[in-house]
Amino acid sequence: MDRVSGVSRTAQIAADPNRVIIFDTTMRDGEQAPGFSMSAQAKVKMAQVLRDLGVDVIEAGFAAASPGDEDCIRRVAGEVEGPIFCSLSRANEKDIDASFRALQPAPRANRRCHVFLATSPIHRAAKLKMSTNEVLSTAVRSVEYAASLFDDVEFSAEDAFRTEPEFLADVLEAAADAGARTLNVPDTVGYATPEEVRERYRYLAARIHRRHPQVIFSAHCHDDLGMAVANSLAAVEGGARQIEGAINGIGERAGNASIEEVVMALKVRQDRYGVTTGADSRHLVRASKILCEITETVIARNKSVVGINAFAHEAGIHQHGMLADSRTYEIMSPQDVGFEGSWFVLGKHSGRHAIAKRAETIGRPIEGERLAAVVAGFKQRADQIGEINDAELIAIIDRVDGVS
Ligand code: KIV
Ligand code: ZN
Repeated sequence: MDRVSGVSRTAQIAADPNRVIIFDTTMRDGEQAPGFSMSAQAKVKMAQVLRDLGVDVIEAGFAAASPGDEDCIRRVAGEVEGPIFCSLSRANEKDIDASFRALQPAPRANRRCHVFLATSPIHRAAKLKMSTNEVLSTAVRSVEYAASLFDDVEFSAEDAFRTEPEFLADVLEAAADAGARTLNVPDTVGYATPEEVRERYRYLAARIHRRHPQVIFSAHCHDDLGMAVANSLAAVEGGARQIEGAINGIGERAGNASIEEVVMALKVRQDRYGVTTGADSRHLVRASKILCEITETVIARNKSVVGINAFAHEAGIHQHGMLADSRTYEIMSPQDVGFEGSWFVLGKHSGRHAIAKRAETIGRPIEGERLAAVVAGFKQRADQIGEINDAELIAIIDRVDGVS
């Protein structure tokens, strides 16, 4: 039954039962979304930062999509060393051959073929025009073919969460019988809730792990209802040992689970999830910035983990708390994700403590009545212009001191 001959890098990583594999699809699912197309050079640059970040698998593209994408994958796999490289394929020999050609430059143990086939009733009827039996046999045939070329095969049941649970289990089990070592259960349209996700993984694991104890379940959640990260974490609670996502959460429509959020949630809430990743989170901000540069996009100021407001504090009460102990308003350190430090923004919400602290930092200490007068002048000016930078603060202090 076991058709896999070599020991893949995935199998080595998965030897640790508490390890969650981070699978990055910024350059495949991410790139598929409007506005995120990448050149080969851009993909190489992105792959380099993803390697520094320590993601385990890089899905570098969809080789059969175009000769250009096949070439991009080949360049990435040839120029970047370390991670497992993956190419997406529909469930047919032509696509799998394209992935095989594109991934040649990577060592065999680091090549993964990702075969997908939709399983839900709506996809079977409207898109594939296949019966359940045809879906099942197509999945088996394509995975067998992929396993004849690769030591590492992932099978995805597209639209898994709108698929009948028993049929889904039948297809996934048949794919494992045929040689798939990772079984992905995508929430392709971002429809599931965390409770449903947790339950579905428990059901699938209870059934399929009986015959295939080593098989790795993977989560691939889309964000149509804003639940992609919550659903990915629920999948881990249900037994998933691989999470797929993209930097800045890019991907089809509303995007995929954001890698930076998943990595930090597993790290900060290690107490709850009890798993580790191979990620060095200090590269998250750099990865986010490089993607923004490459795709000429900006992320929201308040984007979790990597937005410029993620460690910024303006409210007086918050700044006061932060000055006493940063744990009052920060659950992770800015350095842990790659920022230099927290950022105090002085504005109309700032209070006496923060104004005094900033004045001291810039070499103009103030206290007592002078401080009260500076705070009054500060509030007036902040109402007019919003943010008070150092030059403005000095001007206010000078006015109070009668210098100007
Ligand atoms: O969302 C999805 O179902 C996919 C598959 C190809 C894994 O992206
Ligand atoms: Zn997807």
